[in-house]
Amino acid sequence: MPQTCHVALIGQKFMGRAHSNAWAQVGHFFDLPLLPERSLICARDAAELRDFAARWGWQRTTTDWREVAADDTIDLVDIGTPNDMHREQAVAMLEAGKHVACEKPLAGTLDDARVMAQAAKRSKRSKTFVWFNYRRCPALALAHRLVQQGKLGTIYHVRATYLQSWGGPNVPLIWRFQRKVAGSGAHGDLNAHIVDLARFLTGDEIVEVHGAVARTFIRERALPGGGGGGKIAGQKAGVRKGKSDVDDAVLFLASFRGGAVASFEATRVAAGHQNRNTIELNGSQGSLRFDFEDMNVLHYHEGFDTSATSGWTRIMCTAAEHHPYAANWWPDAHVLGYEHGFINMAADVLRVLGGKRPEVPLPDFADAYETQRVLEAALLAAKERRAVKLSEVK
Ligand SMILES: NC(=O)c1ccc[n+]([C@@H]2O[C@H](COP(=O)([O-])OP(=O)(O)OC[C@H]3O[C@@H](n4cnc5c(N)ncnc54)[C@H](O)[C@@H]3O)[C@@H](O)[C@H]2O)c1
Repeated sequence: MPQTCHVALIGQKFMGRAHSNAWAQVGHFFDLPLLPERSLICARDAAELRDFAARWGWQRTTTDWREVAADDTIDLVDIGTPNDMHREQAVAMLEAGKHVACEKPLAGTLDDARVMAQAAKRSKRSKTFVWFNYRRCPALALAHRLVQQGKLGTIYHVRATYLQSWGGPNVPLIWRFQRKVAGSGAHGDLNAHIVDLARFLTGDEIVEVHGAVARTFIRERALPGGGGGGKIAGQKAGVRKGKSDVDDAVLFLASFRGGAVASFEATRVAAGHQNRNTIELNGSQGSLRFDFEDMNVLHYHEGFDTSATSGWTRIMCTAAEHHPYAANWWPDAHVLGYEHGFINMAADVLRVLGGKRPEVPLPDFADAYETQRVLEAALLAAKERRAVKLSEVK
């Protein structure tokens, strides 16, 4: 009989829904050493929270996250709050001896991220995880395996873009446009994902950022009509305006220790691109490319062959006998969606807490801190208009 993992979740909006669904579904699809119990949910609005808890099967609610830290029955705390809350909440949970799964970016600032990584290191009993959920798309987990198996040979190029279009001029000044809450804009939100993916897929570390551009195109936005939540639908724009002090787009170039060169581009104002998270690797033996808007597919090109029949192989990553996570889901080509990355991640978290191995490596706070250092190096490169070695960023 699997044992129980008592989970508390902080946050009940976008990620609150994605994570609640993951904890609710994971036991139906995976054989696990631990099964999650949705014990306690915390967020700021008591009335919304009661409805949310009833809908998603959370047993108890609180509007005070410190009650979560003080609750001795809770094993794992899942943090889905805005970036400025991650540090205080995660450190308190670690000091209370709990395991912590925190949303990305690890924090809004490098200082906060460092404190979190240090707290994780100090805590001997607790394990930490960061919800870089795209690692757990079967196509990207397969890409990771193929690189590990040497299918690409020496990696020459990493080309990553994360293009969204929701941040146009009519979107009000929600927390994602406020530096004191979010830390940065498209950079911490979107480049965080693709830097994590580039490190995960190559198994290599970035050692230098050669140059970067950070731009804020929309400097003033209408103040939200009510609340401070991040859900855009239903956010009424008021007449008064406030300053948007985060980047709308950040682009940068970098090198890996192993010699590969990389480009990263993140934006929230690329009209027409809704969630275009793409990454391509080119190596001495071949290439891989992925686009989240076609997330079940990985494209593979073997070698430098230029024969009449050479070209990209389109791999539908849903075959139980070949593809990561596929055996837990549906028959071939009965495709997966956004939520499955979170369910697959919940499965791996429970495997690790139950003493088993994850399907592919899980990022912990130390790992996510390395991603945060790369993000910081890019911001420094943009601000000072120069190349920045990662050894400068501690
Ligand atoms: N992994 C991903 O792909 C992904 C996608 C979206 C967001 N995120 C990350 O998830 C986090 C949350 O983003 P979101 O879009 O869900 O935000 P959101 O605004 O939709 O929800 C934030 C929630 O946090 C709660 N909250 C805020 N302050 C609180 C406090 N002091 N105590 C208790 N609850 C508090 C709010 O009540 C709300 O329920 C951010 O770090 C964001 O970067 C990750």
